[in-house]
Amino acid sequence: MKKSILVIYYTQTGQLEDIVKNIAQPFEDKNEEYEVTYYNIQLKEDFAFPWSNDVFFNTFPESYLQIPSEILPPPEEVLNKKFDLILFGYQVWYLTPSIPIISFLKSGFAQNILKDTPVVTISATRNMWMLSQEKLKVYLRDMRAQLIGNIALVDRHDNYTSVLTILRWLTTGQKEKSGILPAAGVSDEEITGSVKYGRIIETHCKNNDFTNLQPDLVKNGAVEIRPFLVRVEKVGNKIFTIWSNLIIKKKEKRPLLIKFFKVYLMAAIWIISPIVLVLHLLTTPIFWFKRKRQREYLQGINLK
Ligand SMILES: Cc1cc2nc3c(=O)[nH]c(=O)nc-3n(C[C@H](O)[C@H](O)[C@H](O)COP(=O)(O)O)c2cc1C
Repeated sequence: MKKSILVIYYTQTGQLEDIVKNIAQPFEDKNEEYEVTYYNIQLKEDFAFPWSNDVFFNTFPESYLQIPSEILPPPEEVLNKKFDLILFGYQVWYLTPSIPIISFLKSGFAQNILKDTPVVTISATRNMWMLSQEKLKVYLRDMRAQLIGNIALVDRHDNYTSVLTILRWLTTGQKEKSGILPAAGVSDEEITGSVKYGRIIETHCKNNDFTNLQPDLVKNGAVEIRPFLVRVEKVGNKIFTIWSNLIIKKKEKRPLLIKFFKVYLMAAIWIISPIVLVLHLLTTPIFWFKRKRQREYLQGINLK
């Protein structure tokens, strides 16, 4: 009997769709062995792309606090079927799985679909996905999904270049390079090359054994951890908790607080994070082994 594969994703720019489709390609190529179904999560009211500057920052509190919006129900062919494997594509908004993804996870449909099913998570982000993946792991555990693999594709440029290019991309729609700035997002080579991860997953799926899937994916470059960014994310989560709660509570001051948040965020990226970087580098010898353990943990699929 054919194995059934479900590909779940949401995307605004199309980048994540290209990636999940490339990863699903090896399954599509063996259509006598697999049947592949795609489920593109759809919000009742979707976010416009490109983003206006105001909406982009105004989305922060709900994103960070994981406040869902309403989604359209998944099609019957997704709801009424037990899948053998799920490829779950998501993006990160404000250090958290994006609102469309959270909306799906909290919709009541998700548990039915994900329960007792092996899941490979696939993200395509700027570069700060690590603690967001920890948040997603909790949802998957609570729904009794079996997380068997994770692929985290990022913009490989330095942290500052990618801030500039992603803002250009998200607010104008222009991904391609311009002037001295390179192209934004995951590189074309990596998007095309992600078919290799599909081949690895397909091999494990054929053998009905996912035990070594994650080490195999990691060996092939599926997850790169930059310890400095983990530190930035930890600090960022603490400060985002304060900002998001403040903005939600002080409803009448929201427009003003969002303006302050925007200034804060720019200062955090351009002033605070270089300081964190220097401190991080200076303390490298002291925390060498701790950071090594942390890297190994974040490359894996377990939840502490
Ligand atoms: C509102 C918003 C916030 C974002 N925050 C983050 C973030 O915290 N970390 C990160 O690595 N990428 C962040 N990104 C980039 C996305 O993860 C993603 O790479 C980009 O939006 C393109 O994805 P898509 O085409 O699948 O929608 C953010 C994007 C948006 C729109």
